[in-house]
Amino acid sequence: MSFADPAYRAANRANWDERVAIHRANRPGGYRIAEFLAGDDRLHPIEDEELGPVDGARLLHLQCHFGLDTLRLARRGATVTGVDFSPAAIAEARALAARVGLEDARFVESDVYAAAETVEGRFDIVYTTWGVICWLPDLDAWAKVIAAKLAPGGRFYFAEGHPFMLMLEEVDGRLVPTYPQDTPADRPLVFDTAQTYTGDPTPLNQTRTYEWIHSISRLLTALDRAGLAVDWLHEHTEVPWSPFPMCVPTEAGMYRLPPEQPPLPLALSLSARLRSGS
Ligand SMILES: C[S@@+](CC[C@H](N)C(=O)[O-])C[C@H]1O[C@@H](n2cnc3c(N)ncnc32)[C@H](O)[C@@H]1O
Repeated sequence: MSFADPAYRAANRANWDERVAIHRANRPGGYRIAEFLAGDDRLHPIEDEELGPVDGARLLHLQCHFGLDTLRLARRGATVTGVDFSPAAIAEARALAARVGLEDARFVESDVYAAAETVEGRFDIVYTTWGVICWLPDLDAWAKVIAAKLAPGGRFYFAEGHPFMLMLEEVDGRLVPTYPQDTPADRPLVFDTAQTYTGDPTPLNQTRTYEWIHSISRLLTALDRAGLAVDWLHEHTEVPWSPFPMCVPTEAGMYRLPPEQPPLPLALSLSARLRSGS
């Protein structure tokens, strides 16, 4: 098992605890909570197209935040368990589950690196999406947790910001390579961000976060070493948040580069299975 330096982890967790309170306030541009409460079970277009039916599946959602997507998957018939290290996120997820009558949904407060021990049982689908591995220093340890929690024949579904996009910053209207690929585990990128990413102006107190960029080769190698065989990997020119000020919204609520830019990859997704004998 491997954990981030406790100081990095503590700062990131405090930052996430604060963001939960802001995200659950449901201001415009944020998490579509009103639609969720009205019965909506839509994910983003990428997962909606790729995930396939989850009806009847035991599904483990890693880094579930306050459970909106976990509960959407429960509405589609999955038996869900959400895991997140933020106590505020888990408390809100449980409250939301009770509010919409999905009391069978389970939520576990745990570091993702400890989930092999803290979460009981094995799952038909392990699911984790959007803004997850940037918080994790060690993808080998992460992939081992996924392999440990998959039942024989089970499937891993993953969608995330593309590392190529994460290496760029917009400076004076141009995209500039700024960060190296493959941040070392013990030397995270340090960011100070005054507000959360939804556009809500509420100031954060815990502004400092520690984050990691992982190349596609590091990701695929970690999955392979853990005994997971990738069925497919897709790269996308849209992502659920606006990564650069120049990005434009799509009709489906995603963001893409403006037409004058080449359509660079902004997101990736993949599906993998345990190799037999793993
Ligand atoms: C961008 S959010 C993921 C949102 C997700 N796409 C969803 O379903 O809404 C990232 C989440 O990762 C969680 N997180 C960050 N580091 C973690 C760790 N080491 N173990 C468990 N959860 C972690 C945060 O608390 C946060 O809820």
